[in-house]
Amino acid sequence: MKEDPELLNALFKDKQPAEILAYFLDKYKGKVALGSSLGAEDQVLTDMIVKIDRKTKIFTLDTGRLFPETYQLIEKTNRKYQINIRIYFPDTVQVEKMVNEKGINLFYESIENRKLCCHIRKIEPSKRALHGMKIWITGIRKDQSLSRFYNKHVEWENENKLLKINPLLNWTEKQVWEYIKFNHVPYNELHDKGFPSIGCMPCTRTVKPGEDIRSGRWWWEDAGHKECGLHNRK
Ligand code: ADX
Ligand code: SF4
Repeated sequence: MKEDPELLNALFKDKQPAEILAYFLDKYKGKVALGSSLGAEDQVLTDMIVKIDRKTKIFTLDTGRLFPETYQLIEKTNRKYQINIRIYFPDTVQVEKMVNEKGINLFYESIENRKLCCHIRKIEPSKRALHGMKIWITGIRKDQSLSRFYNKHVEWENENKLLKINPLLNWTEKQVWEYIKFNHVPYNELHDKGFPSIGCMPCTRTVKPGEDIRSGRWWWEDAGHKECGLHNRK
């Protein structure tokens, strides 16, 4: 029977992330995938998920433009938890066509180019990563940006025809870091170097204390456009 996101949202309104995860990991065993950018939130979810069911699929979209620190963290995380984070690459033909026609750093030229790059390097591979899954877990939090204020714990995702679950939706940045420290969760060294939100290297820069946490992502664009299209397709 198809789940009703509204009912589930009412059920999970005041529940903790681990309880939400436990529900879906049990009910949809083998059909749940965490999409991890290796950011702080995703590391928290990885820790929680491994403690519930270590066989759960955890995948990352390797755009080919990630930071070296992110690759190091993939290895460190695999070693610590004895897991194997699945890596998905973009289609070589599409990437070659794009960069040969528009330039290797096309994303700085226009929003259209940037969205094309995100589409080819992230969204297309995410469809393969999610193929056959019924549940897609993400590390989205409400207070990451205005565009995420309206996200819910459970959302129907029409593109991939599955339920997207955001267990950390109501957590603050402080709660994320308290969990990381308390549980000795490995985290990206870039967080200590002034990057609160980490994506691709050419499209992410440091932010000053007190600045919006996503302001270092695609910093040359208006705040209203700052979604890659994986979430909140704008
Ligand atoms: S993004 O859409 O702007 O890149 P952000 O970096 O805030 O997203 O991450 C939000 C959530 O999207 C992450 O918690 C994770 O679930 C998913 N996500 C982002 N980047 C990746 C990636 N490279 N691989 C897998 N999942 C990702
Ligand atoms: Fe391309 Fe930048 Fe998007 Fe990465 S974040 S896929 S480099 S435009």
